[in-house]
Amino acid sequence: MSTETTVSEVAVQLEGITKRFPGVVANRDISLTVQKGHIHAIVGENGAGKSTLMKILYGMQRPDEGEIRVNGSPVTFHTPGDAISAGIGMVHQHFMLADNLTVLENVILGSEPRKRGLAIDFAAARKKIKDISDAYGLGIDPDVLVEDIGVGTRQRVEILKVLYRGARILILDEPTAVLVPHEVDELFENLHGLVREGITIIFISHHLDEVLKVADAITVIRRGTTVAEVSPEGVTARQLAELMVGSELPSPETRESTVTDVVALQVTGLTIGADGERKVLDDVTLTIHKGEVLGIAGVEGNGQAELVEAIMGIRPSTGTVTLAGQEITSWTTLRRREAGIGYIPEDRHRHGLLLEAPLWENRILGHMKEKVNVRGWWINRKGARADTQRIVEQYDVRTPGIDVLASALSGGNQQKLIVGREMSGEPKLLIAAHPTRGVDVGAQAAIWDHLRTARAAGLAVLLISADLDELIGLSDWLKVIHRGTLVAEFDPATVTPEQLGSAMTGAGEEA
Ligand SMILES: Nc1ncnc2c1ncn2[C@@H]1O[C@H](COP(=O)(O)OP(=O)(O)OP(=O)(O)O)[C@@H](O)[C@H]1O
Ligand SMILES: [Mg+2]
Repeated sequence: MSTETTVSEVAVQLEGITKRFPGVVANRDISLTVQKGHIHAIVGENGAGKSTLMKILYGMQRPDEGEIRVNGSPVTFHTPGDAISAGIGMVHQHFMLADNLTVLENVILGSEPRKRGLAIDFAAARKKIKDISDAYGLGIDPDVLVEDIGVGTRQRVEILKVLYRGARILILDEPTAVLVPHEVDELFENLHGLVREGITIIFISHHLDEVLKVADAITVIRRGTTVAEVSPEGVTARQLAELMVGSELPSPETRESTVTDVVALQVTGLTIGADGERKVLDDVTLTIHKGEVLGIAGVEGNGQAELVEAIMGIRPSTGTVTLAGQEITSWTTLRRREAGIGYIPEDRHRHGLLLEAPLWENRILGHMKEKVNVRGWWINRKGARADTQRIVEQYDVRTPGIDVLASALSGGNQQKLIVGREMSGEPKLLIAAHPTRGVDVGAQAAIWDHLRTARAAGLAVLLISADLDELIGLSDWLKVIHRGTLVAEFDPATVTPEQLGSAMTGAGEEA
């Protein structure tokens, strides 16, 4: 890159952006310059203000102060529609596609091409989608239902949706959080394809290795303000993390096994799907002991969600589930939770939180019988509030208080709240689906510490994660799920991410 840049080479310039919410300054005098045709990464701790800044650039939030320039001209956005007209598109931290519609319907929703008689011109839409998909190598089939496609493809549909609206500047808020390594590589290939066609990409990620691999420039945000602008050649992942937190990170501790021979969870022959059909879960048998973390590796959509839902009693299945020696196969989900199963769901918005309720009410959710939350027949407001305060402190949930709505927390802080809640009340078994998804590196280490401490005290954990480092680092034993069956197992002390990755795609026979 030449060091001299002219105005025409700058796609986005933010100057002095400040945004206040009740009790928090989310953005404070932020400056950011993004070169045209660059992949520009934004990193920072949970709650640092990354999503807020991007929502401002996308017209979803109005800044209290500051100026936005796009392609050299000052702009004021009142709605995302204004940003779209200026060629800016955003793919959000949480997916926003409708499951029960096709890819085509999702893509054109809100900007349907019309024929002269005002009927929707599906043929034109289909052609345009195919053209965009081909031009950027996205490989999208417009006529499948969104519920039938995997997360990697959903991600590409979200990208296609903004390209369809003419975006030349693309904002991706944590696009890789839900992807397994080979899907991340595919996404990055797509991004390089887009950049070659002159598109500018701003992307947020907590995976600093990825950031270093793919970004042309990196901006670090700490506590609402820009603290550094670095080039990926000049820093290591560790240095980047230290810039984010403003101090040195502790080194990871060595681990020792705490596995006992007392069985906490026994699952036998768990199956979902009728005879003759392909089963989404096929004869899964596994044992987890007290003090043991069993990790399940797999590409998303291979039965992990179904396994979890069967153990939780959310989805009907055949087979048996035994918790601490007691068969619970016919129990309701509520009864299972009350018997001591903590549950960190994969979709924190759909199953983990009531977004429009304050934090302390979210503390009670699903834990209606836990001691701190009840007094006799009644909700114990005071107890629940005090315990929410404890979670906020122990799990470092960054919030102005426990009365704010869950929707006002940043994504990673929502996750920390759920983890803290599910670890409360000394569960016997924790089912943790992507427990640190969207959580920054410092908070991830803290959550791992909490899990290890609970494990040492006898907690059994079923860990499902797309993050192979997390699976290898936290698990005492690993199993690989592929097309609904457990196909391989590994000792995390000796397995490499490459071996695990190849077993996940069904290629690994070496197990
Ligand atoms: N609608 C809102 N109302 C009140 N406070 C908000 C709102 N949106 C964000 N905040 C606050 O602004 C701050 C920045 O949040 P933001 O979502 O931008 O963080 P982030 O850097 O994207 O974090 P994460 O990595 O966890 O996604 C946080 O303290 C958050 O609680
Ligand atoms: Mg965010």
